Amino acid sequence: MKKIILAIETSCDETGIAIIEAKNGPKKPTFRVKKEVVASQIKIHRPYGGVVPNLAKREHIKNLPIIYKKIFGSKEKALWKSIDEIAVTMGPGLEPALWTGINFAEELAKKWKKPLRGANHMEGHLYSALLQEKEPKFPAIALIVSGGHTTLLKMDSLASWKKLGETRDDAVGEAFDKVARLLNLPYPGGPEISRLAKKGDAAAIDFPLPMLNSKDYDFSFSGLKTAVLYFLKNKGYAPGSNIPPKLAADIAASFERSAIGVLAAKTFRAADKFGAKSIWLSGGVAANELLRKELKKEIAKRAIPLLVAPRKWNTDNAAMIGTAAYMNFFRKKKFPLVAKGDLEI
Ligand code: KG4
Ligand code: ZN
Repeated sequence: MKKIILAIETSCDETGIAIIEAKNGPKKPTFRVKKEVVASQIKIHRPYGGVVPNLAKREHIKNLPIIYKKIFGSKEKALWKSIDEIAVTMGPGLEPALWTGINFAEELAKKWKKPLRGANHMEGHLYSALLQEKEPKFPAIALIVSGGHTTLLKMDSLASWKKLGETRDDAVGEAFDKVARLLNLPYPGGPEISRLAKKGDAAAIDFPLPMLNSKDYDFSFSGLKTAVLYFLKNKGYAPGSNIPPKLAADIAASFERSAIGVLAAKTFRAADKFGAKSIWLSGGVAANELLRKELKKEIAKRAIPLLVAPRKWNTDNAAMIGTAAYMNFFRKKKFPLVAKGDLEI
């Protein structure tokens, strides 16, 4: 079995198109990213401190044909001959943004007479962990951490899983973004907080470790963000004002330690309870160095592999949508071609 898939991603603020080659059966699929372009809209949304849905839509509409040209160049006909199907993100995400990708994909499917398959963005993140060499072993515990989700899954195979827990309020990436705003750092806040945290003392401030000791596998990050807000207020600083650099670095480091500490602890509590034979990590926050370090420390103790894609495939991209579409084929999963902002994994 081999499929060449053209994948399209427009769920949030990255416009992505990729061509991937997917091989082998559902138990041991392998993927090769043949061509890929991701156009980030970060600069457009930065002045607003977050993603503005209608601006995202406008930018996707502008960027899709440009990226398409970059991928296909002068070899459009020849490349289409090799492509077996088209995959596009149906959700979750911003519906105006999702529709741009769906409409673009539908036009291509019609023009080049190719089947079109919808994919779940979260499953794209999940399966992005297969974009590397290590073999998945089951049962596995998968942590998906992004700007919109914080989800822990127990996987029994590549195609079946159970949701163990998720965030009850803010996603962890969202918390990074909000705390960054409190510290007057630009959007997206995750990488900014991490950079600043390196200069700070992670033991300087005792922020809470939310839901660390709860018996379930849920998370909560809104209280942690509020703790940062009150800490600043108590020190006499308004949110978003200029804070002395050393204090800002200590806050960033201490906040990061708390947020990442809870993620790592709950992931491995689940791993031990269910006898996990591998740990999967995906989503934009998977790019966080401290999270990778903490998880690596724990897997080393247990001698199990950590499956995580190279950093460029942690944040939103189209290659991961291709992996999910290939797996949908085996799972016999078909999505109606309608944007669904709150699509669940
Ligand atoms: O997966 P993604 O690109 O988009 C969503 O599906 O949400 O994730 C974006 C999120 C943002 O909240 C961003 O701040 C966060 O991932 N992020 C990070 C890092 N890089 C990106 N958070 C913490 N540390 C990072 N290095
Ligand atoms: Zn995402």
